[in-house]
Amino acid sequence: MIAVLYLISSVLFILGLKMLTRVSTARNGNILSSSAMLLAIVATLIEMGKVDYTWILAGLVVGGLIGGIMAVKVQMTSMPEMVAVFNGFGGGASVLVALSYLWDKGLGGDASQTLNTMIHVDISATLALSIVIGSVTFTGSLVAFAKLKGLISGQPILFPGNQVLNALLALSMIAMAVGTVIYAQGSDQISLFALVLTAIAAVLGILLVTPIGGADMPVVISLLNSYSGLAAAATGFVLSNNLLIISGALVGASGLILTKIMCKAMNRSLANVLFGGFGQEVASGSGKTGDLYPNVKSCGPEECAMIMEAARDVIIVPGYGLAVAQAQHATRELGDLLIKNGATVRYAIHPVAGRMPGHMNVLLAESNVPHELLLDLDQINDDFKNCDVVLILGANDVINPAAEKDPNSPIYGMPILKAYEAKTVIVNKRSLSAGFAAIPNDLFNYDNTLMLFGDAKKMITAVVQEVKEMS
Ligand code: TAP
Repeated sequence: MIAVLYLISSVLFILGLKMLTRVSTARNGNILSSSAMLLAIVATLIEMGKVDYTWILAGLVVGGLIGGIMAVKVQMTSMPEMVAVFNGFGGGASVLVALSYLWDKGLGGDASQTLNTMIHVDISATLALSIVIGSVTFTGSLVAFAKLKGLISGQPILFPGNQVLNALLALSMIAMAVGTVIYAQGSDQISLFALVLTAIAAVLGILLVTPIGGADMPVVISLLNSYSGLAAAATGFVLSNNLLIISGALVGASGLILTKIMCKAMNRSLANVLFGGFGQEVASGSGKTGDLYPNVKSCGPEECAMIMEAARDVIIVPGYGLAVAQAQHATRELGDLLIKNGATVRYAIHPVAGRMPGHMNVLLAESNVPHELLLDLDQINDDFKNCDVVLILGANDVINPAAEKDPNSPIYGMPILKAYEAKTVIVNKRSLSAGFAAIPNDLFNYDNTLMLFGDAKKMITAVVQEVKEMS
């Protein structure tokens, strides 16, 4: 019966994951996966049989409650931080399970105790793996969380000898892992090795993430997500739990695929993200904006409305600022008005616009923008040159021409939306300050660009009002 429950749960996980790939089915996919998780917990409890259910039920209620409250309260823009924390907890849980497995075998560090059971080499090896990956994931995720939350600087933190120290730590980690495996063959020294291994991996987790800039945190989080899955799968081998192996492998693989997709969208290699110290040389973004942008022209909602009203072909480019301002509903209203007015309106979605994959799709789906109007970079990039107006709402890096024109730019080579090719470009943001990559954007200087300064929601609502009055 347990095997059947595990099998059902695994199938539900896979179906849930598949449904998460489409906006229209994502919500149900999430519910399906959560149900699979509940089923998995129940099946595991039945399998274990003799456990004290009071504690487990208390854990389930308290954990479920905290998770539920966090999920309801979290702002959409803070989602990556929350995912980082959850990844960290996943890694931490794997370490705790691995260590408690040793405890259970009579290796609790008490000198009077002796090894109750010999641990077979395949188990001790996966045990060491679970400790290493879980511990790196735990501390690495907490650093990623602190960077995104602004608790520590988002700048890459590098010191002389950083890489050498990391290499030394990695070597001693391997030595401790080998010790854990060797001593598992009949000595209670294993607990000491396992604890030192945990500590070294924890330090390495911190040192691996601190040199990475805040702009790359979503990639790091996705990678750590993958690690947490691998740690869980390794723990599954230790506990001989097939479901943990399957679900861990699913998380491991999907996290890795997502990491690859993000790197490709930024035209960066994973090695460049992890060791490139990206975002360090960026102070120019916060320099005197007057010197950087001598040719800026701005417009107000009224002028913007007039231009939009006259346009026949409009492309709207949403970015992170749209999410911050929660301007998706006003944006859809503007789009609807223009369509009613006879214009063609489409939305250009860059794969890394916003702060997480699919961020813009989710936002616009929330305001019921028809799915067929949302076009990917490849689908729409050739159409910018023929369009009358591009309205850029809180996007910056993803439309920065430096990615194509300035070989010295840190984002050179990243595919961008070619908004600069349009007849008129209207950029809405609150100031001339830089985006997440913290680099200047020459598009603000272009002759065909007009800046519409202000909060996206306020400005678009004002433009909607003006368009209504005109028609
Ligand atoms: P950004 O380049 O981060 O620019 C967002 C702009 O929004 C800012 O320049 C800001 O300018 C403006 N803004 C903020 N609040 C606003 C508001 N209330 N109203 C209007 N504008 C507002 O955004 P993007 O173009 O979407 O690019 C995403 C960045 O994140 C890229 O660098 C990308 O590589 C990085 N990243 C994303 C992901 C994923 S998966 N999405 C993963 C890794 C990295 P003001 O302060 O002047 O208003």
